[in-house]
Amino acid sequence: MAGQEQRRRRRIVLFPLPFQGHMNPMLQLATLLHGRGLAVTVLHTGFNAPDPTRHPAEFTFVPIHESFPAEVTSPGADIATQLLALNAACEAPFREALASLLLRGQDQDVACAVVDGQCYSALRAAHQLGVPALALRTDSAATFRSMLAYPRLRDAEERLEELVPDLEPLRARDLIRVDGSDTDALCGFIGSVADATRASASGIVINTFEGIEASELVKIQRELSRPAFAVGPLHLLSQAPAEQSLHAPDRGCLAWLDERPPRSVLYVSLGSVACVDRGVFEEMAWGLAGSGVPFLWVVRPGLVSGGGGGGGEEVPPLPDGFGKEIRSRGKIVSWAPQREVLAHAAIAAFWTHCGWNSTLESVCEGVPMLVQPCFADQLVNARYVTHGWGVGMEVGEEIERGRVAKAVTKLMVGDDAAQMRGRAYHLKMQASAATSLSIDCLVHYISSL
Ligand code: UDX
Repeated sequence: MAGQEQRRRRRIVLFPLPFQGHMNPMLQLATLLHGRGLAVTVLHTGFNAPDPTRHPAEFTFVPIHESFPAEVTSPGADIATQLLALNAACEAPFREALASLLLRGQDQDVACAVVDGQCYSALRAAHQLGVPALALRTDSAATFRSMLAYPRLRDAEERLEELVPDLEPLRARDLIRVDGSDTDALCGFIGSVADATRASASGIVINTFEGIEASELVKIQRELSRPAFAVGPLHLLSQAPAEQSLHAPDRGCLAWLDERPPRSVLYVSLGSVACVDRGVFEEMAWGLAGSGVPFLWVVRPGLVSGGGGGGGEEVPPLPDGFGKEIRSRGKIVSWAPQREVLAHAAIAAFWTHCGWNSTLESVCEGVPMLVQPCFADQLVNARYVTHGWGVGMEVGEEIERGRVAKAVTKLMVGDDAAQMRGRAYHLKMQASAATSLSIDCLVHYISSL
């Protein structure tokens, strides 16, 4: 009987959202859980499907056969609307796929489902099928707390500069925001996430570590009266093989970095989704030029809204005359091997949109940041970088070449820069000391469910 029980608790079913910043942490977690003896089934959408050849051969990948409307798949779609549509489209196929796994006999017994925390419909479906569901937050604990508090805070718009009680160092202006987005859709989405987590999740798994978010973790456990596991930084702990990347990285930039002096280069990237308008793009370019520092800049397809002359999904053309700047001290790539870039000795600082993965990767390499949050949790992360951990500064709300040049210089040279670098180094040490103890606790918890 005991042996049978063991077998019954052996398999976990994971369901990642099909986006760069969500898929990788889920599969990194899968690798860690697999390493501790759990069998892994990954249910996934056909859209941006994971590549099984990049993962252990023992992982089982099962498509859920969803049918996504255009709101989900078209680039540049409104994010809240996209996530609402995605949840609606995944609910039935996820339920069917999970139910059919449950029916498949003893060696397929499911101990629990680990579902992307933004996929409230799958959390609910797992719970309704009697499968304990854990919500994986691929954003920070602070972001998740602000989502839990969102319904009560949504009317705080008037007092944008004030600190939000119990969410310090966040101000009202740092709360999740998607400019131009349908506010009702955003509130509806966040409310559904918070409700489903409260009602259907048996625990929360967060890609963070105590060194940066200890008090946020305690508060989540207290607010939800259920365990929260800080299992990050997942990319460090999992040592997963090459991740799935939406674009092929240009590895030539590593050789270019090899030729630069230590701590001399500014790395610039706004991640995989954020885009800027043509005017901002040009100010960024001339600001970089004016700063006089060597730079490695990711100018990916779709970075400039409307494409700036080439259509939304083409690499935008650089400003006229900018080629001279590049020849003297810059390198442009359309996608970089970011983790290797951040770990490179030539990198001094990172101009980032503060997506959570980029933020964590920078923290783990001790690289100070210039923050340019664009939407969603990026605002929360940016505030923690600048005012929570003191490892970065703002580029300024208005991206203007003169200010950009000044900010870049301040980030890289002088006393402020040295202090930020010192604190960033300290966080790097804490990140590298983060252990997988939390993963062991999670595995223990899964077997107790
Ligand atoms: C999205 C959301 O926009 C963000 O708010 C949320 O926190 C995560 O998902 P994204 O643009 O994907 O953000 O940013 P991020 O979380 O930073 O992830 C980007 C990933 O792409 C990182 O792991 C980074 O290493 C990788 N990357 C980025 C590359 O490998 N090469 C690049 O050139 C740029």
